[in-house]
Amino acid sequence: MALLSFNTKVHFGHGERKQLVLESAKLGMKKPLFVTDKGVRAAGVFALATETLAELQGAVIFDQTPPNPTEDAAVAGLTSYQTNQCDGIIGIGGGATLDLAKAIAVLCGDPAPLWEYCNRNASPRPIVNPPPLILMPTTSGSGSEVGRSAVIIFNNGIKAGVGCPTIVSVAICDPELTLSLPKYMTAATGMDALSHCVETFCSPLVNPPIDAIALDGLTRLYQHIERAVADGSDAEARWHMMMGALEGAVCFQKGLGAVHSVSHSLGALGHHHGTLNAIMLPHVLAINASVLQDKLPLLCRAMGVAPDTDLVELFLQLNQRLGLPSGLKELGVQKESFQALTQASLADNAHKTNPRALTENDYLRLLAAAW
Ligand SMILES: [Fe+2]
Repeated sequence: MALLSFNTKVHFGHGERKQLVLESAKLGMKKPLFVTDKGVRAAGVFALATETLAELQGAVIFDQTPPNPTEDAAVAGLTSYQTNQCDGIIGIGGGATLDLAKAIAVLCGDPAPLWEYCNRNASPRPIVNPPPLILMPTTSGSGSEVGRSAVIIFNNGIKAGVGCPTIVSVAICDPELTLSLPKYMTAATGMDALSHCVETFCSPLVNPPIDAIALDGLTRLYQHIERAVADGSDAEARWHMMMGALEGAVCFQKGLGAVHSVSHSLGALGHHHGTLNAIMLPHVLAINASVLQDKLPLLCRAMGVAPDTDLVELFLQLNQRLGLPSGLKELGVQKESFQALTQASLADNAHKTNPRALTENDYLRLLAAAW
């Protein structure tokens, strides 16, 4: 059985953003570096997340998070941390922001080239003395606040993870921070979370507790994603979406699959992670179907649909109802890139735990089907 551990202390619930005062004080943060992005600030979500902090004037705010976090952005964040002599990091935003906050924390203790920490290396550089780190998600998608790595686009062009399973001191999950998230981002990030639950459940590793969590997450996400997209102010739907996202990320320890191996390869080119996962999910289920005969009815049961439901068709239709792109062509992906994408997908860690051992030809077929 795979290693089973739950690493992160989590406050979860409507209004839990109030915990930020107490938790930052407990961690001895007097001058934290706030890591966020311009969109989260412009939407007023940063102000909402920090409303209980008395002294935000003069706070050190790094809001240069790109749509996909990069090594350069992590180095820029580190410079801001060092220049301002900060003593902790508070990440407030979507998955990109939270992953960037983690990467900055990794560099703070030992500012070596970030690639040396990447889990693609046979022996990644050990992380030493990271500062206290608080993460507050403002989407229900990546679950990065409890996930085990920071996924970064490195300067060598590879999108891969820095394993840092114990770097987060506290996660504060307040679904009220997602109430103003626009429809498209609610749909795309929600499908990222849903794909985590499906892929980890389908992973061939044996880990029954994680399977149970994955199916519970799938139930919540499938039952509430359309409600959350239709009415962003539906607080109950937002609660379940955020819990499903957290559960999906707790499950990473069982391994992901080809949805994510392809998504990481395409994400390195700048495409949105959740959108890619939504597009890939039905096609990956189709290519894996022959080895999932025992698991497909259990996925159906978790989703509350008949046990013989065609899940490929169900997810294709769900994407359509959510207003998500129907294929990679719509994102501007060129067929000429399929060969390079296939090689990148074969090298990705998520490839190793796909339920079927996919070949080069399988990936070419998969990309053609998803185009
Ligand atoms: Fe993901």
